[in-house]
Amino acid sequence: MEFAKGNTAAPLIVSCPLRHYGTRLLTQAQNRIINRASGHEFRARPDETVLAAALRQGVMLPYSCRNGTCASCKCRLVTGEVRYPFNPPTALDTEDLADGRMLACQAVSDGDIEIEAIEIEQVADIPVRLLPARVESIDELTPTVRRLRLKLPRGQRLQFLAGQYMDILLPGGKRRAFSIASPPSETEFLELHVRHVSGGGFTGHVFETMQAGEILRLEGPLGMFFVRLGSPRPILMMGGGTGFAPLKAMIEDLIHAGDTRPLILYWGVRTASDLYARELIADFGQRHPEFRFVPVLSEPSGDWSGRRGFVHDALIEDHADLAPFEVYMSGPPAMVHAGRRAILAAGGSEVHLHYDSFDFAPDIPPMDRT
Ligand SMILES: Cc1cc2nc3c(=O)[nH]c(=O)nc-3n(C[C@H](O)[C@H](O)[C@H](O)COP(=O)(O)OP(=O)(O)OC[C@H]3O[C@@H](n4cnc5c(N)ncnc54)[C@H](O)[C@@H]3O)c2cc1C
Ligand code: FES
Repeated sequence: MEFAKGNTAAPLIVSCPLRHYGTRLLTQAQNRIINRASGHEFRARPDETVLAAALRQGVMLPYSCRNGTCASCKCRLVTGEVRYPFNPPTALDTEDLADGRMLACQAVSDGDIEIEAIEIEQVADIPVRLLPARVESIDELTPTVRRLRLKLPRGQRLQFLAGQYMDILLPGGKRRAFSIASPPSETEFLELHVRHVSGGGFTGHVFETMQAGEILRLEGPLGMFFVRLGSPRPILMMGGGTGFAPLKAMIEDLIHAGDTRPLILYWGVRTASDLYARELIADFGQRHPEFRFVPVLSEPSGDWSGRRGFVHDALIEDHADLAPFEVYMSGPPAMVHAGRRAILAAGGSEVHLHYDSFDFAPDIPPMDRT
């Protein structure tokens, strides 16, 4: 088993109501897991995470990074014990632990447990598929961002919700996550925005050797980051760098659905030349009567007259009370982490805050859905 970064800690055990850490590893038969919030019940195989077991049996717990860092899968452990044999639960702070929280993507149950977790019904009927796709085109959006257009086999369509992501499957069981930048109404191509990671194996390949015509293997759609079309709330979106990609898909989906709720997009990048979709964004303004765009530069040149600094600071400066909003954010983990804290402190609610944190790939085994 390969581990993600920093996985040097011994396996952890967390129990409820008295939580404690230890190094004990137990072998176990299938455990019964009950979600008190929904009444759903499912079984976990030995050494299967609570999240993997839930998804395998159609119980749609929220998740994003699947390596213990983003907190999307945080829920409450009501009774029983869990342990963390893969990655340590980095996204839990002392307050979370004292409050009986656990991370479903890393927690393995020790015996039967009861949890309290929200479930995301909207994705329950969307099948996760393994598909080949041909690289149709590779375009330079900036010196460090490429757009890939991928074509599925003739007659094949991928059902997904705007904002979800795909895994690109690589040799050796590795996988790399990329948000789908095109909306579901675009049936010809899947679009990805790929930022070059210095020393990165897959993104290095995209920038240096990938040619149109190459066949990729995909798994998806994945994740619970998608636009809530049914919500009446005004929308705030915040993206950092290529975190714009899933937000683009969401905005296009909202426009396609004729949803004209007030919508403000904050996009944080380093310099003005990193704003790689200005024309498209201007077009959003033409097609959506209540759309506003706020670019925020962290390293602007002298002639920049717009917003400066961190993108989440700009959003909070403009909105002292976030309680009325549906908030979506995606991009670098540091931005998502800081944004989450700031948004909750400004009255935003966990239920109406949705995010994908672009953590680097955990190299975890695929989720078994058989
Ligand atoms: C849900 C989700 C959606 C994502 N969507 C997008 C997207 O739409 N566009 C996009 O550009 N990226 C996206 N990412 C991030 C993307 O998956 C990683 O950048 C990619 O896996 C890097 O692969 P690699 O093989 O090039 O790097 P690797 O060979 O895996 O990494 C090499 C080293 O680079 C560092 N590293 C790798 N990735 C990152 C990173 N993202 N940030 C900081 N350091 C890193 C690590 O130290 C790592 O050891 C997403 C991630 C997640 C979890
Ligand atoms: S911490 Fe579990 S999905 Fe990110």
